[in-house]
This record gives sequence, structure tokens and C-alpha cells, in this order.
Amino acid sequence: MTSAESLILGIETSCDETSVSVLAHGSDIRSNVVASQADLHRRFGGVVPELASRQHLERLLPVLDEALERAGAVLEDLTAVAVTQGPGLVGALTVGVAAAKALALSRDLALVGVNHLEGHLYGAWLAAPDLALPAVALIVSGAHTDVVVMRDHGHYEVLGRTRDDAAGEAFDKVARAMGLGYPGGPELDRLAHGGDPRAVPLPLPMADESFEFSFSGIKTAALRVLATASRSAQFDADFAASLQRVVVEVLVAKTMRAAVQTGVSTVLVVGGVAANSRLRAEMDRACRQAGVRLVVPPLPLCTDNAAMIAAAGYQRLRRGLRADLHLGASSDLALV
Ligand code: KG4
Ligand code: ZN
Repeated sequence: MTSAESLILGIETSCDETSVSVLAHGSDIRSNVVASQADLHRRFGGVVPELASRQHLERLLPVLDEALERAGAVLEDLTAVAVTQGPGLVGALTVGVAAAKALALSRDLALVGVNHLEGHLYGAWLAAPDLALPAVALIVSGAHTDVVVMRDHGHYEVLGRTRDDAAGEAFDKVARAMGLGYPGGPELDRLAHGGDPRAVPLPLPMADESFEFSFSGIKTAALRVLATASRSAQFDADFAASLQRVVVEVLVAKTMRAAVQTGVSTVLVVGGVAANSRLRAEMDRACRQAGVRLVVPPLPLCTDNAAMIAAAGYQRLRRGLRADLHLGASSDLALV
């Protein structure tokens, strides 16, 4: 291991979490501080990009101080800084990238830019550092729904992705129409525990033989049901459970088919929606049945956090990939 890889500062500001982490030796999380902006955006029912950037600006330095303090480290101990370069909100990303460059320049640290989706994949790595590759990964968040084959570190093949909305986005929008809080995914998950997943008939979203997804149709269908329903606490629970059932069924079926088709024996489920209890339970059941190893990170490593960015940065540094001070934010940065 070169010194650049030993104590890495991770910075994540791609959306509405300001996060800084200190990671030792690639998988030892010394701190992982996440300041959520959910309270700020809640009253608007979704992330307001301009407010997100400003909030990152205000919070990044205090969060950095706290991450160092919790890790028992000072800036002088760091060897590298890894930062989310994209995809995400360009103004929000820029705050993290500018801070990372300033730290790299002033402290003579190695600098590495990380793709946010690659970061999510390394959330699984942090949960299972003995992970064997290749693996099939479902990356499922508020902005993405991708089925990817991770052949090796840095080698990704996207088998399919959503044509329109991400699964998390569909959950959030339906939850918003129900008058639930923001973000709606966790609220729906909570509500669904008291519901019957077969009570409200909803179509399976794009349940075909491809690895592509589409969630805008199910969102519209769900909103239509909601508009004419006589709402009660039981209806809401049944509706939440039914919506989760159809979305999860398609996510699980396509991920498992990708594992079978590629002959891969490890499946990763990562991204914010990987926190969903039905998705976790159904993936677990399907992987047991298929004799495939399943790795799903613990909840704090599913949703946006900087430890996963530092872990991805560690692997990039090991491959000799360093950024220079021209590193820029890229809102639509591709995984491959
Ligand atoms: O990865 P993430 O934190 O941010 C993005 O990169 O988008 O994912 C956020 C998404 C939101 O859509 C949120 O509603 C969803 O993850 N989410 C959940 C749960 N926890 C977070 N969706 C369903 N069930 C959950 N328990
Ligand atoms: Zn994310």
C-alpha cells in the first residue's frame, strides 16, 4: 500500500446530504458524519437545488471538523481526499469538489474524483470487504435504477437502467401525493408494515425479459388509484404495501435473471432504496433460493454517505488513478 491510500478523507455533496468520512486502509471507517438537509427541503416536497448548494456551503466545514474529531485525526494525518465528482446536482457537487481541491492543494494530499454510483457499489464493499468479484449489482436510489455487472474494480458493464423515473423517485412522488413526509420512501416503508401487499391491484412495472426499468407508468397508475380512493389508515397501509410489492417484484426478478444469465454468484443491492425492508427481505429470499451470496449494506451505508466515496477513492488510488486540480463536477458523469 502506498501512503496515499492509508488515511482517506471522503466528501459527498451530490444531493441533499453533506457528508465527510475518515477511512483507514480502505475499509476501516473511523468516522462517517452525515448532515441531512431533509428538514430544509421537506416544506417544498423535494430537493431545491439552489438551497442544497447553499446548505452544503454552510455545513461542509463543520461536518469536516466533526468527522476529523470523531476519527481522532487532524488534517496533517490525512494522505488523500476523495470527492464525489458526479452524477448529481451540479451546484451541490461543486461545493464538495472545490473543498476537496482546496484541501489537496493546501495539505499536499492526493486527490481522487469518484463517481457517485461507484461509491454506492463500495457501500457493499465496506459491508463485506472479503467480497469476491465478479458481482451483479442493483443500484437503486432516488435518481438511478441500474443493473450492473461489476467484473473487477473499475470494470462495470451496465446491463440495463430505467428509461424514465428511478424507483426511489416513484416512491417519493407517490408518498408526496399521499401527504407523507419527504423523502417518502422510508415513510412508505414504515406504513407498508401494517398493510396487505395484495390488497390494491397495481400493474407490474415493465415486467419484461429486458434489464430495463420504467417507473413513470406505475407512478401514474398509483396516483390515479389514489385520486379516487376513499382514504383511511388501513387503505394507506394496504396501498403502500401493494406499491412496494409490484416495484420490488420487478427489481428482484431482473436482478436475479442478470445473476443467472451472467453466471455470477454474488449479488449486491446498493443505493438509498436498498434500505427498503421489503426489497431486502425479497432479495434475501431469492438469493437463498438461487444459492447466491447477497450483500446489502447496513442502512447508513445505503443512503448517501462519504465513507462509500472514500472506499471507492481508495480503490482508484490503488490503481494509480489520481485527479489534478482541473477536476470538475459533472452532473451526468457515466459509470462506464
Ligand atoms: O442513494 P440516496 O440516498 O440518494 C440518491 O443518490 O438518490 O437515495 C435516496 C432515495 C430516496 O428516493 C428515498 O426515498 C429512498 O432512497 N429510500 C427508500 C428507503 N430509504 C431511502 N425507499 C424505500 N424504502 C426505504 N426504506
Ligand atoms: Zn446516492
